[in-house]
Amino acid sequence: MPERSIGAARLRVGVLASGRGSNLRALVVATRASGVRADVVVVVSDRADADALAYARVEGIPAVHLDPRQHPTREAHDKALIGVLDEHRVGLVCLAGYMRILTPELVRHFAGRLLNVHPALLPAFPGLHAQRQALDHGVRVTGATVHFVDEGVDTGPIVLQAAVPVEPGDTEERLAARILAEEHRIYPEAVRLFAEGRLAIHGRTVRIAPGAPAPPAKETP
Ligand code: GRF
Repeated sequence: MPERSIGAARLRVGVLASGRGSNLRALVVATRASGVRADVVVVVSDRADADALAYARVEGIPAVHLDPRQHPTREAHDKALIGVLDEHRVGLVCLAGYMRILTPELVRHFAGRLLNVHPALLPAFPGLHAQRQALDHGVRVTGATVHFVDEGVDTGPIVLQAAVPVEPGDTEERLAARILAEEHRIYPEAVRLFAEGRLAIHGRTVRIAPGAPAPPAKETP
C-alpha cells in the first residue's frame, strides 16, 4: 500500500481549470511527491479541449467536461458543478485558470474551502490580463497571490503572496513566465497549509498557525 494512504485522512481536492493547466500540474506533482496530505481527486473544465483535462486523463485523475451550453443558466451550470464536486467528496476546491465567474450559490456552498491563484499582488490588478495591467501601470514589483474566493472578483482573503520584480524591457510573456513560476511554488504551499488545518479566516485576514517543530537534528558521530 502506498505510504500516502497511511495515517490521517488526506484532503480531497477538486481543481477547476479552463486551459493550459500548469497550476493543476504543480498541484498534482506536489501532492504526489511531497509531504502534502492531499490528493487531486477530480478535474472539471468548461472547455472540452482544455489541456488540463488531457493532463488529468493521462494521470488517471477523473476529468469532467461540463459544457455551459448544456445548461440554460449560470445557476443551473454551477448546480451541476456542485453536484460533480460533492460526488467526489472534495474538501477543497482550487481554481486554476478557471475562466468563468462563479455564482454566489457555488461560492457559498464552498465558503472557506475555495482557493484561487492570481498573477498579481492583490488587491492590485484584479481581473483579466493582470500582467499587462502591471506593465501598463509601470510598477516595479508585481507577483502572485493565492486567496480564498468570496463573491467578488479576486477580492477574497489572502493566503500567500510572492513578489516578482519587473525587469527593464519586460514583455508580458516574460513577466508572466516569472510570475507563473511563483504561482507553482505558492499554490501547492497554500494547499499544504490548508490540508494541515493551519489556515483560519478572520475577516479579511488569514491567520497561519505555526507548524509542528522540526525534529531535533541527529548528531553526527
Ligand atoms: C495563471 O496565470 C493563473 O494565475 C490565472 O490563470 C493562469 C492559469 O494558468 N488565474 P494555468 O492554466 O494554470 O497554466
